[in-house]
Amino acid sequence: MSPRTPARRLAALLAPAFVLLLGALPAQADDNDYVAIERGRYLATVGDCSSCHLHRESPYAGGRGIEAPFGTINAPNITPDPETGLGRWTRDDFARALQQGVSRNGGHLYPALPYPWFTRISREDSDAIYAYLRTVPPVSNAVNRDTLPFPFSIRAVMRVWNGMFFEPGRFQPVIGRTDEWNRGAYLVEGLGHCGACHTPVNALGGSRRSQSFAGQALQGWYAPNIGGSSYQGIGEWGVDDVVQYLRTGANGWTRASGPMAEVVQRSTSRMTEADLRAIAVYLRDQPGRGPATAPPALAADSPRMRTGQAIYVDNCSACHRRDGQGVESMIPSLASNQIAVQAGPETLIRLVLSGSRPAATDAEPTAPAMPAFGWRLNDAQVADVVTYLRNSWGNAAPPVEASVVQTMRRQLAARGE
Ligand code: HEC
Ligand code: HEC
Ligand code: HEC
Repeated sequence: MSPRTPARRLAALLAPAFVLLLGALPAQADDNDYVAIERGRYLATVGDCSSCHLHRESPYAGGRGIEAPFGTINAPNITPDPETGLGRWTRDDFARALQQGVSRNGGHLYPALPYPWFTRISREDSDAIYAYLRTVPPVSNAVNRDTLPFPFSIRAVMRVWNGMFFEPGRFQPVIGRTDEWNRGAYLVEGLGHCGACHTPVNALGGSRRSQSFAGQALQGWYAPNIGGSSYQGIGEWGVDDVVQYLRTGANGWTRASGPMAEVVQRSTSRMTEADLRAIAVYLRDQPGRGPATAPPALAADSPRMRTGQAIYVDNCSACHRRDGQGVESMIPSLASNQIAVQAGPETLIRLVLSGSRPAATDAEPTAPAMPAFGWRLNDAQVADVVTYLRNSWGNAAPPVEASVVQTMRRQLAARGE
């Protein structure tokens, strides 16, 4: 019988408290692998899970409506709440949802969850995200999962859709490419799901992979061409330009607004430098898609260009300057600007109508905003100033009609923007 040392007595006293503490930690002790959890936290940031699964109480409690071609689909609760979240899900259930688009009860998920991209995620990464999500506080929030109209309300319809458009399978590194390129491919084509916005979809919402990154209209914006084209794409950007844009939301060419400002704020600005470079290297290696060369610019002395110029001088030139050059690292240059010459003018029109608040990142916490002109300029005036922008200072793109502005104005009003 050895006498109890003070240290042992202290240990005996603390033991019950320690057990209590352990009990307070999330279930499944084998998931409490700190390294996997931290990796999972990072990967959830790269996958931008919280931008869709956001809820006022928690980044993962769900409820936000995601616009899809056939209606709005609510993002579910993915906190570990057993009744309304993923509390009863196993790792296998979780991997099946991300990689195959099938929920725990066997029901098909809609591609509003970007599983056509997430299918490339490795099992290891899926498990790490799962382990991290087990550690977030459980929130009870029952989300309405059945918001689509008939026949899309029948989830089995997705079986047909998957047969037509879904290519399941983990990412396979391309032999002969560097590790950096392959890492970039994994991030862009998989977890980062960049193509979910930047790759055009067909009438049924399937991605047109032959047009990867060629750009499309999206949620009242235009996700631009980010392929290698020098005309509409980022063919003239260097790797550093891409990295700077993704890290800070701005570079010498442009500033991120709208949905991309959110992507930058929540996801890319929090990625490692190595991952941003990998993304840039992979993107810069993409072929040019869309028209290779610009159409001839409208003649500067045509009536619409003259009217557009007058409106520009009155309303825009104080900030963007008469020569469209803007102010270095404050006001973006509109000269040789890819946003100005995209196939769809949605972003341009809405920036003029509603203004824009750019991404705030740690690197650039208080970027200047662009004022709204919708109250001041009528549809024809907006169409003219946008047409002028699209055909000045090295830009060239088809003119924009007042009827397009009218439609856009109505859509923005309906969304309360
Ligand atoms: C672009 C928006 C979006 C992003 C990004 C997104 N999700 Fe989702 N997610 C959804 C939507 C919408 C659904 C519901 C789909 C449905 O009901 O068919 C969903 C469903 C799920 C489900 C199935 C839950 C269930 O109860 O069936 C899981 C698990 C999930 N998401 C996890 C994630 C994780 C992990 C990430 C990040 C790696 C992520 N999601 C990123 C929108 C998104
Ligand atoms: C939710 C939709 C969405 C996702 C996801 C998304 N983007 Fe974007 N992206 C946009 C929109 C919209 C714009 C236009 C922003 C603007 O006009 O300011 C944009 C702009 C860009 C631009 C600037 C192009 C130019 O010519 O100005 C780059 C580069 C870019 N995105 C890269 C990426 C990468 C890399 C990813 C994946 C990590 C990604 N995007 C994911 C919607 C998205
Ligand atoms: C008070 C200063 C100011 C005025 C006046 C102004 N802008 Fe802007 N503009 C900005 C700022 C700041 C941004 C960057 C904000 C952002 O992209 O979210 C911007 C962005 C833009 C962009 C996007 C460029 C890019 O590459 O991201 C376009 C296009 C644009 N403005 C057009 C116009 C037009 C057309 C007018 C006149 C009708 C106008 N601006 C008036 C400050 C101004």
